[in-house]
Amino acid sequence: MPPEIIKGLKDVYFDTTESSFIDGIEGKLLYRGYNIHDLAEKSTFEEVVYLLLYGDLPNKKQLADFDSLLRANRIIPDDVIQVIDLVKTGHPMDVLRTAISALGSFDPEVTDNSVEATIRKGIRLTAMGPTIVAAHHRLRQGLEPVAPNPDLNHAGNFLYMLFDELPNQETTDLLDVDFILHAEHGPNASAFAARVTASTVSDLHSAVTTGVGTLKGPAHGGAAEEVMKMALDIGNPENAAEYASNLLDNGDRIMGFGHRVYRAEDPRARHLRDRSKVLGEKSGHPEWFQILQHLEENTMQPYRSKGICVNVDFFAGSIYYLLGIPDDLFISIFALGRIPGWTLQCVEQYKDNILLRPLTEYIGEMDLEYTPIESRS
Ligand SMILES: CC(C)(COP(=O)(O)OP(=O)(O)OC[C@H]1O[C@@H](n2cnc3c(N)ncnc32)[C@H](O)[C@@H]1OP(=O)(O)O)[C@@H](O)C(=O)NCCC(=O)NCCS
Repeated sequence: MPPEIIKGLKDVYFDTTESSFIDGIEGKLLYRGYNIHDLAEKSTFEEVVYLLLYGDLPNKKQLADFDSLLRANRIIPDDVIQVIDLVKTGHPMDVLRTAISALGSFDPEVTDNSVEATIRKGIRLTAMGPTIVAAHHRLRQGLEPVAPNPDLNHAGNFLYMLFDELPNQETTDLLDVDFILHAEHGPNASAFAARVTASTVSDLHSAVTTGVGTLKGPAHGGAAEEVMKMALDIGNPENAAEYASNLLDNGDRIMGFGHRVYRAEDPRARHLRDRSKVLGEKSGHPEWFQILQHLEENTMQPYRSKGICVNVDFFAGSIYYLLGIPDDLFISIFALGRIPGWTLQCVEQYKDNILLRPLTEYIGEMDLEYTPIESRS
């Protein structure tokens, strides 16, 4: 009897979890039991990171202490800045992956895989991630990195280090929501890859490095960048229908649609849809939202019945673009939001660890006779 092959491990359960609940049919997402809609509208990224790592919402004092801890851990070693400088011509995700890997050499607890140490390392990586991305963006422009500003929250400080300018509240809040929406999403490809690394009892820095490398692909984190490139190519809402039809007729996919788990709309998308619309109108560029809206409401409408709906990446790119963020940084922003989720997934893996090692059914030749190289044609 040949084994049953489950391509892409679709719909396979490999463990239990208390991290996030996803109902792909209903389009529902809970972090630690709390609805993503409440968290997106009422919470902050700092509070959500606490929730994910410690399992419940903090009280005022716990949140203030946790926020101070994040702010105190933003500075990265000068040696890591030098590593970033050495590889600065690379894609920001390659640079982020390299810098996180390098940080492992400087972390005093790198080899301690206890739950407590892993959470402490996850907090440090969450705090340092924006410093890496912003420092790289400055260095590649021939500019000095901007030191973290302890007076600003996580999102505001990232924008400040990126542009060397104090961000306004509205922009800070937009990025804060974006980070919340990206913070955790179960054993998706990058989190699963991170868990595979953790399952060998390797360390969190190695696992997060794996996660960054896996997130980079266009089928996963790269979609926001591709969506905005598509919108720029389309240029005008009137061209949207023809452009998208040509893509689909060629057998191409429309980026920002479809999801391995959701058959209904990705519940994270609505928060970015509304904000993309408002930001477009306020900044005098409603055309990007109009193009995306046209694709969603017309070209891709028939696909809804097949379960192919917008995902979190569809509107994200237009927001980053309107905030003046270069398109090759879009995935890095996703990664910065996801560091707490990767940490939590690794904590769950360490807590009840078993080596993750599936099988493939061999369908190649058997027992061939070895021919010496001199005798091969
Ligand atoms: C995310 C994604 C990889 C999930 O893929 P999956 O679960 O493996 O589903 P499949 O690739 O098997 O697709 C199932 C069907 O839907 C179609 N489909 C999936 N996404 C599509 C899209 N974005 N545009 C058009 N058709 C799509 C596939 O062509 C396939 O059709 P078929 O059965 O006729 O061959 C896929 O939807 C995709 O490539 N989306 C675009 C990239 C993207 O936005 N990624 C971000 C995810 S958050």
